[in-house]
Amino acid sequence: MERTLILVKPDGVQRGLMGEIIGRFERRGLKLIGMKFLQMTKALAEEHYAVHKGRPFYDALVEYITSGPIVAMVWEGNDAIAAARSTIGATKPSEAAPGSIRGEFGMEIGRNLVHGSDSPENGLLEAAIYFSEEELVSWSRATDSWIIE
Ligand code: RTP
Ligand code: MG
Repeated sequence: MERTLILVKPDGVQRGLMGEIIGRFERRGLKLIGMKFLQMTKALAEEHYAVHKGRPFYDALVEYITSGPIVAMVWEGNDAIAAARSTIGATKPSEAAPGSIRGEFGMEIGRNLVHGSDSPENGLLEAAIYFSEEELVSWSRATDSWIIE
């Protein structure tokens, strides 16, 4: 089972798209194991986006992600990373597939609504930035056998 850290970024919250975005992952069949509504701090943003430090868009990215509250979630599933990233769509919303979150609700790269981890290793590392292991819930879903072969 892979884990992916998903964020509804400040634009998703401000535009009233939290339920819409969370519903996409829920309907896809990923299993929610942790969720928080929080104000991202500068320190947290710098930890989360450490790989982008020094890039030309870094300062704007930190400004954007700390500009309002976010939803942080951990979703679990076989191939959870790839499944979540296809549900999210390409980084640049103007190039994102129709039907994906960014393809349906986004216009610009600096307002792309959602974050999803890009590898199984980063899924675990990023989940640990926002959640202790005790905060993640192991539960059996009534529909599991209809979603997982
Ligand atoms: P994310 O990490 O947020 O899920 O997005 P991603 O994997 O699709 O894209 P990534 O390359 O990891 O970039 C992280 C976020 O930085 C902003 N960005 N802006 N102006 C630019 O050229 C630029 N490039 C990246 C986006 O908000 C992107 O989601
Ligand atoms: Mg990324």
